[in-house]
Amino acid sequence: MSTIELDEAGQRLTVTASGRPLQGRLRMPGDKSVSHRALLLSALADGTSLIRGLSDGEDVAGTRAALEALGVVVETHPDDAATLRVAGRGGALSEAEGVLDVGNSGTGMRLLAGVLAGQPFLSVLCGDRYLHRRPMERIAVPLRLMGASIDGRDGGRLPPLVVRGGSLRGIDYELPVASAQVKSAVLLAGLAADGETVVREPAPTRVHTEEMLAACGADIETDRSAGVVRVRPSLLQPHEWRVPGDPSQAAFFVCAAAAIPGSDLTIEGVYLGPARAGFLEVLARMGADLDIDVAQGTVRVRGAELRGTDIAPEEVPGLVDEVPALAVAALLARGTTRVLGAGELRVKESDRLATTASELGRLGGDLRVDGDALVVSGGRPLRGATVSSHGDHRIAMACAAAALAATGTTIVEDMEAVPTSYPGFVDDLGAVAGSPLEGGS
Ligand code: S3P
Repeated sequence: MSTIELDEAGQRLTVTASGRPLQGRLRMPGDKSVSHRALLLSALADGTSLIRGLSDGEDVAGTRAALEALGVVVETHPDDAATLRVAGRGGALSEAEGVLDVGNSGTGMRLLAGVLAGQPFLSVLCGDRYLHRRPMERIAVPLRLMGASIDGRDGGRLPPLVVRGGSLRGIDYELPVASAQVKSAVLLAGLAADGETVVREPAPTRVHTEEMLAACGADIETDRSAGVVRVRPSLLQPHEWRVPGDPSQAAFFVCAAAAIPGSDLTIEGVYLGPARAGFLEVLARMGADLDIDVAQGTVRVRGAELRGTDIAPEEVPGLVDEVPALAVAALLARGTTRVLGAGELRVKESDRLATTASELGRLGGDLRVDGDALVVSGGRPLRGATVSSHGDHRIAMACAAAALAATGTTIVEDMEAVPTSYPGFVDDLGAVAGSPLEGGS
């Protein structure tokens, strides 16, 4: 008999599952990256946009609230509760009276900073204690080069950020790190700059900003093989967005199901475009039994015996959020899995190299951090333990997924991090793994 129970405060998850397979079908919540961008581009557009299927997570709600404070009217469509209507401001937002609190969201803070760099007023961006530890010089440096004034704690490197926007000039900027957030901040600022803005990336990262700007009629060109994006000043046209399901959330279920014998799970309607489906390529290399329909966004996964693999540094930007989930598959695989060149994981919602290794290690896994690599030696039996999210939604979900394969009871503490991206996670986990199977014990 398995149990998956969250306490009333939403802080402590208890999982007793002992290798129960994952079965059934799930639809994922709206993709978080696409949701932030749908709100931001709609807010800037010249007219009213519709957004269907927006992420219901707190991060995206923070971006919506910030935009509302900047004068953007966002409301539920009167005829359809699943659709939002956003009255775009034709490129001109209004100065907010108070600070803009984006909670835990690095994407919210960095992309908003890009937008606000081109607005001729003062904005203060803040968030929770985890966000206030995350590096912001990566966006402050290019936005200053474009002409914005950006300040913050620690010499302008940490939030809160104070942005005084104004007239910007286009720049030709080579990203020092492969980061879609930095690329996006510069491109969004480029919409309001004089002349052309060019961004060059060292490795391919997710392309939502480029694709969605093009859909709104922005003057943008992408040469993906060269890693170059060019944008010229543009007034965006309103759009009807349909936000696809989030592959990063699917990864927790898919990675666990791939490694737990007897599992047969189908995830429907997820985005499987560039730099978001890298975890599926890795799972396939590990021997996972996958049926993938990219056009429909359907992934069917059946449990199989997995083997370890090396993930090369250039693959990391395409699966950067999926490393904790992949580590779960690696724990259950034969042999060693190494995630190489994964230093960027140190500056996510937690130091994810450290927290993935420590928390999955408490469950009996053999994981270590070696420089910028995460090394997982698979095949050790997992046993229930008490683990913590460290305030990081993806660590909490990875631990919950690993707990399905552990003997005994696992307690995941600090589960209140999970609704930042996936309020329905525990219900969905229960639906595919929690309830006793018919005829089972
Ligand atoms: C995101 C990009 C990634 C990712 C984050 C969302 C985005 O960050 O980790 O969860 O929406 O652009 P970096 O691009 O900074 O690595």
